[in-house]
Amino acid sequence: MSVRRLAPDEVQPASFAFTAENLAWATETMGKYPVERKASAVIPLLWRAQEQHAYWLPKAAIEYIADMLGMPYIRVFEVATFYTMFQLQPVGTKAHVQVCGTTPCMLRGAEDLIKICKSRIHHDQFHLSDDGAFSWEEVECAGACVNAPMIQVFSDTYEDLTPESFEKVLDAFARGEKATPGPQNGRHGAEPAGGALTLHDLPFNAASPGDQAVADRPAAEKAAAKKAPAKKATTKTSAADKPSVKE
Ligand code: FES
Repeated sequence: MSVRRLAPDEVQPASFAFTAENLAWATETMGKYPVERKASAVIPLLWRAQEQHAYWLPKAAIEYIADMLGMPYIRVFEVATFYTMFQLQPVGTKAHVQVCGTTPCMLRGAEDLIKICKSRIHHDQFHLSDDGAFSWEEVECAGACVNAPMIQVFSDTYEDLTPESFEKVLDAFARGEKATPGPQNGRHGAEPAGGALTLHDLPFNAASPGDQAVADRPAAEKAAAKKAPAKKATTKTSAADKPSVKE
């Protein structure tokens, strides 16, 4: 985890305001909460401000959101500096690559992805590439471990990466295109790689061993009944069968 500070003054804009469209959206979003709890909208509003401002939050935007929500500036600064989803420095104009570096992704090759970031973007995270188009950082688990290793670029995730497929994703962004998000190995979601394997040794619709045992039970019961000695059928209880009661 790196120290998270606001960008230096020389890159901070003098002011920030939502566009008319985003202001209408923000007003509607705040309306989803009771008036006295409108501060609950702080994260979605900060995210929208970040999207509007080239995917990083300047000081003016944080203060603008605080004013909208009637919150002390420090409270909104606390939120913006705590969550790594909020960028506090300018990021690459075409892609800011967040590489998951937590254990499952590391075990599945995240280190190779980081090497590519270092060679293609900048040796150090949080620095812009020479053309300003790319930046990168290592982040903690992004919640897609079953598709490790993975990266996030702005709002999208790219999963099941290899060095080769990661290079292709970066190539697409470099051309100004958006690579198709999701697994990059042909998987649709998080289903088993290589297809379904459960019960693969049974033909489709075949009875499972348990079903077959149930089907065989009547025959087995008849055979057992034949072997067993016949019981005398008794329909009435005689007086002799009744227990005697001593007085
Ligand atoms: S460890 Fe990488 S997404 Fe969870």
